[in-house]
Amino acid sequence: MRDEILDIKNCGKIAVMGGTFDPIHYGHLVTAETVRVKINAEKVIFIPTGRPPHKDNKMVGYDEHRYLMTVLATSNNPYFSVSRMEIDRPGLTYTIDTIKNLKKICSDKTEIYFITGADAINEILTWKDPEELFKICNFVAVTRPGYDKDKLLATLKGFEKKYKINLIFIEVPALSISSTDIRNRVVEDKPIKYLLPDEVEQYIKKYNLYKTSFKKRPLFNFINQNLHGVLKPTRFEHTQNVAVEAANLAKFWGADVEKAYTAGLLHDCAKDFPPEKTLELCQKYDIELDDVMKHQLDLVHSFLGAVIAQNDYLINDIEILNAIKYHTTGKPEMSLLEKIIYIADVIEPARKPYKGLEEIRKLSYENLDKAMYIALNSTIDYNREKLRMIHSLSLSALNYYENCMRKNNRKTSDYTKTIK
Ligand SMILES: [Fe+2]
Ligand SMILES: [Fe+2]
Repeated sequence: MRDEILDIKNCGKIAVMGGTFDPIHYGHLVTAETVRVKINAEKVIFIPTGRPPHKDNKMVGYDEHRYLMTVLATSNNPYFSVSRMEIDRPGLTYTIDTIKNLKKICSDKTEIYFITGADAINEILTWKDPEELFKICNFVAVTRPGYDKDKLLATLKGFEKKYKINLIFIEVPALSISSTDIRNRVVEDKPIKYLLPDEVEQYIKKYNLYKTSFKKRPLFNFINQNLHGVLKPTRFEHTQNVAVEAANLAKFWGADVEKAYTAGLLHDCAKDFPPEKTLELCQKYDIELDDVMKHQLDLVHSFLGAVIAQNDYLINDIEILNAIKYHTTGKPEMSLLEKIIYIADVIEPARKPYKGLEEIRKLSYENLDKAMYIALNSTIDYNREKLRMIHSLSLSALNYYENCMRKNNRKTSDYTKTIK
C-alpha cells in the first residue's frame, strides 16, 4: 500500500504525532491542528505505533483497525497524513528509527517537530539514543492549560544544556478526552458521540470494536503470552491477581481501571530475570544503580520493569510506567495509580499472611494513605528483621505518609472540637 507520507518531500516543517490511536479522538485531532497552526507546519504526520510481531495474529487485525480509524479521522484535513511505517516495521519500534526514516523521505532542510505530552518529556532520556534524537528533531510538549511548566523546565535544566533540546510548549484545552474512557464507554453502552469523528464512531460500530471487556482485548493476550515466557508460574499467577486487585481498587477509588489492570499485569515483568541479565539491561538502558540497589539487586526490578514495559510491551503511558517504577520502594506524594499498584501488590488474595495484612486489606478500601503507611511500615520492619538495607525512597515515603496521617488526625480532632 502506498504510504501517504511520501508527499512530505518538499516540506520545510513537519510535525509528527505518534500514538496508539485506540481509537483516535478529538483530543488528538485538536492537538495536532493547534500545533500545526502554532508552529506553522506544512504537514502533520500521524504515525500509529506498532507492536512487536507475535504469533498471535489477532494483533495484526487490531493494528489495521487503529490505522484505518486514523485515516478516516484525518481524511478531511488536507494538512494531515497517516503513515504505516511503525505498523509495518518488523521488530520493536523506537522513535529514533521513525524520525530517521522520515529524514530519509523528506529533504535535508525539513525540520521535524515531534509532538508529545509534557509529562513524557521527563522520560525522554530513557528512550533509545536520546542524544541523537535531540540533534535531529525538535520537541513540542503539549500541556493542559495551567500546567506547571516551570517545574518541568527545572527538571530539564541540567540536560537541556548538555543535549541542546529544542522544546516548545503549547497549551491544548481539549486534552482531557481519553481513548481509555471511550473504550470503557463502549463496553458500558454509553454514548461516545462528540468525543471522536462520526466516521470513527461508525467504524467502531461496524466492526464491533471494544465491545468485550477490556481484559479480552488482543493487547492483554499479547502481554500475557509474553509474560508466560519470562515469569515463573507462581509469579505469573501473582501478576494476574495483582491486576484484578488493582482493577477493583481503581474502580472503587475512581481511577482508570484499564491502566490499573495493565500496570498490575506488568509490575513484575522484570522480576525473574537472572542477575546477569538484570545488570546487562540496566547498562543497556542507562539505569543507574545506587548503593542500596547494588546490594539488593531485587529492588531494581521495578525501575527496570518500567523500562521493559515501555520497550518490550510498548506501554507509553507515563502513569502506568511510574506505577510500575515505584511499586517496590514507594515514594512521597504518590499518584492514585501508584498507590493502587503498591497496595494491590501487597494485598492480592494469594499473599501469605504477614503482620498487618488484614489491616492493610481493610484500609485499602477506607483510606489509601493510611493503608500506604501501614504497608510501608510493615515492609520496612520485615526488611530490617532480615538485615536488609532500606531504600531512601521507602524511608521518605514512610515519613511522608506518617505526616499525612497526622494532618488527617488533626483535621478530625479540629472538626470534633468545632461541633462540640
Ligand atoms: Fe515487584
Ligand atoms: Fe509483585
